[in-house]
Amino acid sequence: MLTVMTTANPTARFEELLSSRARIGWGGSVTTSRPVSSPIYEFGGGYPDPASFPYDGLVEATAKMMKAEGAEALTYGDAQGYRGLRELVCHKYRLFENLEVTPENIFVANGSGAALSLAFSAFVDPGDPIIIEAPTFSGSLNNIRRHGPEVFGVPVDEDGMVTSAVRESLEKIRRQGRRCKLIYAIVNFQNPAGPDLSIGRRQELVELAEEYDTLILEDDAYNELRFEGDSKPPVYALDRTGRVIRAGTLSKILGAGVRLGWLCAPRAMLPAFQGFNFGGGVNPFMSRVATYFLREHMEAHVKVLVNVYRAKRDAMLRGLWEMLKDTDVEISRPQGGFFIWIKLPSATDVGRLEELAFKARVQYTPGPAFFAGKGGERHIRLAFSYEQPDKCYEGSRILAKAILDARRA
Ligand SMILES: Cc1ncc(COP(=O)(O)O)c(C=O)c1O
Repeated sequence: MLTVMTTANPTARFEELLSSRARIGWGGSVTTSRPVSSPIYEFGGGYPDPASFPYDGLVEATAKMMKAEGAEALTYGDAQGYRGLRELVCHKYRLFENLEVTPENIFVANGSGAALSLAFSAFVDPGDPIIIEAPTFSGSLNNIRRHGPEVFGVPVDEDGMVTSAVRESLEKIRRQGRRCKLIYAIVNFQNPAGPDLSIGRRQELVELAEEYDTLILEDDAYNELRFEGDSKPPVYALDRTGRVIRAGTLSKILGAGVRLGWLCAPRAMLPAFQGFNFGGGVNPFMSRVATYFLREHMEAHVKVLVNVYRAKRDAMLRGLWEMLKDTDVEISRPQGGFFIWIKLPSATDVGRLEELAFKARVQYTPGPAFFAGKGGERHIRLAFSYEQPDKCYEGSRILAKAILDARRA
């Protein structure tokens, strides 16, 4: 048989042929820490805990589902997404957040990253003003850059997105004779800074959206993974005028590999998202597997996960504080989610820290990755989600030692 080799150094240039859509944000890169090859301590990406994936449960659910659904599972699906999964999302919202929506409000996507992208595609043209948190999730920043808006970043404090700064940005945009297209907010265990958006600010955000006639894109990836405190009402539930789009995901409570997320939105808006999706619905097969598993096991599985991630957070915080208590470091204590946000001691040489962490094979994400413009130079984000508690403790102590050793003389 003839073996066909691909050429190692292709010479044809495709860049000139790129569509104007593809050129937006082309080649833009986000700051990541010097990638540690096979890190010993993986605190970089927000990877779920592999030991907690429900391996046997998913095998069982797949067999049960195939028996019950047969060919239906392997053919094209509903363009809006498998109805069973949309019903399950409604059940999840009711159970954890007391939020009532119908399957007609849900649009299934390939993870919430893709869901957010559908919302940006539906509403954001290049140059349009949008408001986001500074810092915000680096993956969303990539997503946003590819849509080319003018980004107004507003700070985040211990109560989440600072709504007085949202008002200032809205006012500024209005004074320019323009209209803000949307306000993107990560409302629970904000990634990377950690706070919940306070109830007062949720209310205020909705009022601002009404006053300035814009939309809110509410990103919730972590609410079920709450270690302490009470769940706050979703911004979606406070909205009376159909201005809120809510993104959700199964990545953190089931497995990121299932690639299932969704948008929850006023019904009339859904065709705007569908226009950017492919036919056949998103992953009808996996939607069924996930639904069959979660219908029976969601509550119990989430309970297990909460304990797993709480232990990891505590181990990491213990390691950090034991080593850094005598410095002016600031370390977040999130009530849930995956991340710890650190403001490094003022004397830290950040470049030196990067070198030391690289040598110690500790991976983290530097602060600037979470800012659309300048910012975050003295911050780093640690994910406690992936490593086991003993390694969270050990690795955070090693990193803390590197922070101490990276002090400027
Ligand atoms: C705040 C936030 N939104 C969205 C996502 C995207 O998740 P996925 O695309 O896996 O559903 C993440 C993942 O880390 C996240 O932290």
